[in-house]
Amino acid sequence: MKLYICEICGDAYIGEEKPTDCPFCGAKNNFIKNADEAKPIVNEKIPASTRGDDRSSTRGGDISELSQKNLLETLALETRANAMYLCMAGKASEYKIKAMYKRLAKVELEHAVIVTKLLGIVMPEMKAETCADENQENFQKTIELEDHAVELYKKFTSEATEPNIRKFFGALMQVEAGHIELIKNL
Ligand SMILES: [Fe+2]
Ligand SMILES: [Fe+2]
Repeated sequence: MKLYICEICGDAYIGEEKPTDCPFCGAKNNFIKNADEAKPIVNEKIPASTRGDDRSSTRGGDISELSQKNLLETLALETRANAMYLCMAGKASEYKIKAMYKRLAKVELEHAVIVTKLLGIVMPEMKAETCADENQENFQKTIELEDHAVELYKKFTSEATEPNIRKFFGALMQVEAGHIELIKNL
């Protein structure tokens, strides 16, 4: 058995081979490295308190104001997606669809957790979301939400000046595009 680490979520994976996608955050396997070589983005932030200046109380440490704003928008979107997918899992008419939405909800929650780690903040209280009773309507809503996420993360990727934040948005863009593909191939 070998130990691998995902550079996007920072989670460890134990197995004979690298998975094709991170089972936790969904990042593509180019972000999954042998544990000795991995440089997780959530471990890169320099804590403000160690810089010896008076900005030690600044949230997000060395993250620019624009990236902080974009990360907070990401947190709002990811927590909303999590709640929406939990609702859809509850309404699913067959086990396969329920299991898929439960997994999607966990992946989106993981994205929200990464944001809280990058910003050094606590997870906001989760609000419940509504969804339709019919699978088809929920699939449509899912595609709309993920389309919006892909566009947003494309913009955030181009706006990020910090290498680790750019890497994060780039990885998320691929993950959310994969979710659209998944629904369309059902
Ligand atoms: Fe990951
Ligand atoms: Fe996400």
